[in-house]
Amino acid sequence: MAKKYVFISRKLAPETVEKLREQFEVKMWDYEDQPVPREILIEEAKRADALLTMLTDKIDEELLSSAKNLRVVANMAVGFDNVDVNAASERGVAVCNTPDVLTDTTADLTFGLLIAAARRIVESAEAVKNGEWKSWSPFFLAGHDIHHKTIGIVGMGKIGEAVAKRAAGFDMEVLYHNRSRKTEAENGLGAIYCEFGELLQRSDFVVSLIPLSNETFRIFNADAFRRMKNSAIFVNASRGAVVDENALFDALVKKEIAGAGLDVFEKEPIDASHPLLTLKNVVALPHIGSASVETRLGMMNLCAKNITLILNGREPETLVNK
Ligand code: DGY
Repeated sequence: MAKKYVFISRKLAPETVEKLREQFEVKMWDYEDQPVPREILIEEAKRADALLTMLTDKIDEELLSSAKNLRVVANMAVGFDNVDVNAASERGVAVCNTPDVLTDTTADLTFGLLIAAARRIVESAEAVKNGEWKSWSPFFLAGHDIHHKTIGIVGMGKIGEAVAKRAAGFDMEVLYHNRSRKTEAENGLGAIYCEFGELLQRSDFVVSLIPLSNETFRIFNADAFRRMKNSAIFVNASRGAVVDENALFDALVKKEIAGAGLDVFEKEPIDASHPLLTLKNVVALPHIGSASVETRLGMMNLCAKNITLILNGREPETLVNK
């Protein structure tokens, strides 16, 4: 019997690929820093039993409709807004993501970004390199405290809870907004549930960890920024499109909020000439939430495991379809 065919849409670690090759015919788009062109992905999907995809690959009706053999899309991310899960479910295609393995790494980065924005770490490092450090002085690059302040987490999934845990270690008051109440976080960390508007008004740090969906598209709009404190720092480590970036720019320029730490953008990579990048009080990162070597290997291996399980007729570990 012919081996099942797996297409991998980005260059992955050799050990992940070798594991798959033990059982399957495997082809990989062999570039680390370039997404596979859409027409190639569509062609490969036509014959693939499994796709191992990245968040840069759009898995939509057009692709799925000609992917007659496809049984599984294993997406190397916890977020799966790049995949039309309903269209996949209708065709009996399993969609898997990579939760859990990236929780702590992403929470570390999110909290690090919060600290960097509050304490002006990037701006300070640039000042030293640019020879702008003339003398120690009382308010030179003075930022904002983090400890004993209030953090408002929007989207209290596993990463949100891990951020709350870090915030508790900084003696912060933790507010959260989520579709459902999180009793463990409430009881264990003292997290307080708030309506969205109340959270915006009370928080010194508003942290977005909310998945992108029709309901959350540009949920952080001009009105949301207006409701925040003038001293608030906004941190986004979920998806860029939950933010109206023009409104964020205006809010920063008009000093409606004090700063922003952004790991994600509506268009990625963001253009280097984007107005947000001209602001000193914006710390911008290239979507590196889960980017530690250990975690990225864990994510790859989880994708490979899910593919192997499904192609052998077993339940995957992390299925997204309901
Ligand atoms: C995810 O897993 O959704 C992250 O955004 C990738 O780093």
